[in-house]
Amino acid sequence: MPAKMIPYSLAERSDAELQSRADALLAEMASRRSCRVFSDRPIPRRLIETLIAIGHSAPSGANRKPWRFVAVGDPALKHEVRLAAEAEERANYQHRFPVDWLEALEPIGTNAQKPFLDVAPWLVVMFRIDWEETGGQRVQNYYPMESTGIAAGMFLMACHQVGLATLTHTPNPMKFLRELLGRPANEKPFLLIPVGWPAADSVVPDLPKKPLSEALQWNANAPM
Ligand SMILES: Cc1cc2nc3c(=O)[nH]c(=O)nc-3n(C[C@H](O)[C@H](O)[C@H](O)COP(=O)(O)O)c2cc1C
Repeated sequence: MPAKMIPYSLAERSDAELQSRADALLAEMASRRSCRVFSDRPIPRRLIETLIAIGHSAPSGANRKPWRFVAVGDPALKHEVRLAAEAEERANYQHRFPVDWLEALEPIGTNAQKPFLDVAPWLVVMFRIDWEETGGQRVQNYYPMESTGIAAGMFLMACHQVGLATLTHTPNPMKFLRELLGRPANEKPFLLIPVGWPAADSVVPDLPKKPLSEALQWNANAPM
């Protein structure tokens, strides 16, 4: 049955105001970086919940919200995650990653050691849910990959906007996350996102960035 329709509107703003808000947001987002050296400074659980609520407000295929966020703050569990992630990453760096992948990673300077998984106060693990069981029936979700990617992006942006650092981490294969965090078979590990403050001595690689002109194409008759 179609849902009842309710009014939707946004604050009235001039084009100039929209542009200045967009410029300010771009300046803010341009300072986002992936952080790999975290401080152990605690972050309140309520703040993490609010940031996850922002991710959870994302659009999703047929409104299914096909994701789960698991927030890990227990030091013992974080350590188990670190040990399992490092075991996978050791195999990745030693023999699973093909040479071209290792070459692509070289400028970033990563290796199999992941101390930040112990140090960051929270590890937010996102799972993608391709199907769910309701009343004994297996129900397929729609666009779970795209939907969960959007929810992750909104969560990452929210963390940066409030002033916290994140890393988008994928210590593949990530099946160990489902096992350690006790999630069911239909929840596929998607991203492991440490959240916190950068350490006082945190550094990031000075990476060249693909210019916008290579990522944006206007169609011939696009208006000004
Ligand atoms: C899907 C995805 C997976 C990533 N996996 C890892 C990872 O496993 N380990 C890591 O250190 N960085 C990982 N990154 C972070 C990228 O290396 C980083 O975004 C890229 O080098 C650009 O740097 P910046 O985020 O500081 O702009 C990942 C990023 C994305 C989007």
